[in-house]
Amino acid sequence: MLIALTGFMASGKTTVGRLLASSLGCPFLDLDEIIVQKAGRSIPAIFAADGEAGFRKLEKQALEQTVSRYAENTAVLALGGGTVTVPGAIKLLQEKTTCIYLQASLESIQARLSTHPGERPLADEHLEERFSQREPLYTEAAHVTVDTDGLTPEQITDEIIIDCL
Ligand code: S3P
Repeated sequence: MLIALTGFMASGKTTVGRLLASSLGCPFLDLDEIIVQKAGRSIPAIFAADGEAGFRKLEKQALEQTVSRYAENTAVLALGGGTVTVPGAIKLLQEKTTCIYLQASLESIQARLSTHPGERPLADEHLEERFSQREPLYTEAAHVTVDTDGLTPEQITDEIIIDCL
């Protein structure tokens, strides 16, 4: 069974996911990385050539394949910030994973995004609107929500292990 980490861009899914997988002694998987490997192109290149719709198709395939591959084995999967917008993804996450929402305030997200400019094609577009549209989707998909503001990745990982698993 996958432990899937959801949340907005730059909410710490990858950093916490690595720490969590290492603490649990299981593989760490990153959905963005799986998409890049399968497509043989970077995320900005996929968005530039195929748009957001093309990226979401690849994301849907990658999510479905990963969930079925890890039906019997434990692994930690960092989702993309927009995975919850893929049709069918919320149901899949609810039914086939243990999904944890790393909740962060818009202010902390903006601060973290500004330190990695250029990596995320959607980081500059309608950020506030996207954030408020997606919050209810993360909550719906997740079995547990962790408030991450003011916590280090190590503290978030400990909280997940103690309170959620
Ligand atoms: C996206 C988030 C990104 C990546 C892509 C689209 C989004 O993942 O999947 O750029 O729509 O929020 P991170 O949440 O890991 O940045």
